[in-house]
Amino acid sequence: MKLNETSSSDRKRKIIPITVALVFAVALGVVANVDNPLRAKALDWLKASGYVEYQPTEAYALAKKVCTQCHSEERIKMYCSRCGAPFVAVVPHMQSFVQNYRKTRPDLEFRGVTEAQAVVIAQVWNALVGNWESDFREEDMKKLIGDYPALFALYKTPVAERPIESVLMKMDKLKMGHMSGAEELQKQLGKSDGNTGTPSAP
Ligand code: HEC
Repeated sequence: MKLNETSSSDRKRKIIPITVALVFAVALGVVANVDNPLRAKALDWLKASGYVEYQPTEAYALAKKVCTQCHSEERIKMYCSRCGAPFVAVVPHMQSFVQNYRKTRPDLEFRGVTEAQAVVIAQVWNALVGNWESDFREEDMKKLIGDYPALFALYKTPVAERPIESVLMKMDKLKMGHMSGAEELQKQLGKSDGNTGTPSAP
């Protein structure tokens, strides 16, 4: 399996096109804060390529969009430390399904991810559902992740230093799955503290 949209290893070869793209980006007003329909496109591209960071809320929207193409968000929500590998390894695995589906269902369109986007999406589900990377040995994680240096670099980064994961983790209202405290909240239902429902992601 390969994240086909963006290669991870041949960054060097991309320096020239990136430089050209940056010059265009400047011309399009990506850097100056000018409103321009092309600016959005240029920014999307720069973000997907890992040259501009996603904001945590954008990351959340991206994860939902990409990961609910073939199954519900519910399925991701049910995933847990007993279920299998951490998200940093699940996300590239899902990309291989994208590639298979593109072959078997050419009538449908599947949106794949770049490695930079995979790094972002893994952080989102880690924060919202749970992160059990520390349950695994490093050599096993290395195998599970595969040949994705940026994803492995994410794995090596302490959670507190991960720009998206650390922010989303603090947003309790987004949390789901076994770490969300949903059970505790359910126990509180009907008590007089004004709690009227189970938490749900927006
Ligand atoms: C192209 C289709 C497709 C996309 C896109 C996709 N998945 Fe999946 N996903 C599958 C299939 C097929 C399975 C079932 C695989 C299996 O049962 O072995 C699955 C299963 C899962 C599971 C459950 C695995 C388990 O062991 O229970 C999780 C969690 C999951 N996907 C997360 C994600 C995340 C996160 C994303 C976004 C990066 C995503 N999926 C995007 C096709 C997809």
